[in-house]
Amino acid sequence: MSDDEAAPTGSDEAKALVAQVFSDSADTYDQVIDFFAPFGRALVSAAGLAPGDRVLDVASGRGACLYPALEAVGPDGYVTGIDIAPGMVEALAAELTAAGTTNAEVRVGDAEALDLPDASVDAVLGGFMIFFCPDPERVLAEFSRVLKPGGVVALTIFDGDTPSKFLRDVGTELFGEQDRRASEAFDRADVLDPALVAAGFGQPVGTDVHEQFRFESADQMERWHRSHFARLLLEVLNEDQLAVYRRRMDEHLEALSDGDGFVMPQRARVTVARKP
Ligand SMILES: C[S@@+](CC[C@H](N)C(=O)[O-])C[C@H]1O[C@@H](n2cnc3c(N)ncnc32)[C@H](O)[C@@H]1O
Repeated sequence: MSDDEAAPTGSDEAKALVAQVFSDSADTYDQVIDFFAPFGRALVSAAGLAPGDRVLDVASGRGACLYPALEAVGPDGYVTGIDIAPGMVEALAAELTAAGTTNAEVRVGDAEALDLPDASVDAVLGGFMIFFCPDPERVLAEFSRVLKPGGVVALTIFDGDTPSKFLRDVGTELFGEQDRRASEAFDRADVLDPALVAAGFGQPVGTDVHEQFRFESADQMERWHRSHFARLLLEVLNEDQLAVYRRRMDEHLEALSDGDGFVMPQRARVTVARKP
């Protein structure tokens, strides 16, 4: 390492892990079931985008928020997506190019250090991302910096209703109680809302969004788990541990059965705040 190269910090390593897991998931992310897309539409609707707006979609993933944002801003608007996972960026960029989209771009970037000028966008979107960032306060400061006065930030969180809580229980059963990332606290409205106000935003308005997702089989739910951040747990399981996961999954699914398949309810909270 040269003298002017900084040594990696714990937070660099945490971000590298997140980038790796989401890059590895990119091909199947939101392709097994349509999970993130409905929440993305709800986020865009709550943000109240207008035709011609310039929008920044932070942590754009496979476009759950970017596509509805593009529709809302129309041909005179522009949407920039950034994501820390190169695999996500490649997959979404390829799709946009194939569709001939000219008023959107996606690139690799970090929510904690946005490569956009001050006061350059009308809205910032962040679907299910703030709790992955080691320094959420820094992220909110960056959102405020790039927003024009009067611009809106719109964020989705699970607010305590983390999907597949049983996965956490499986992790605890197999590996004992794990340290939680400190930033996970930002997945709660009682932490996020005061932090938005502390970052200089007006009083946040929160709206609950309720969705239901249908699974045909345990195999489909396992494929879904492997298509997002939960793959981090599944990848480290040996055959015996995988058998425990599958047993717990069967118990979990029994409670979700409607006789025809399995119905998983999921709540998320959309939070919108305005920069004065
Ligand atoms: C659960 S996905 C959400 C993606 C998309 N917003 C959606 O609603 O489907 C979380 C995304 O956050 C991205 N991410 C995590 N930390 C990030 C950071 N510091 N900067 C930019 N993107 C980040 C991940 O790579 C991943 O694509």
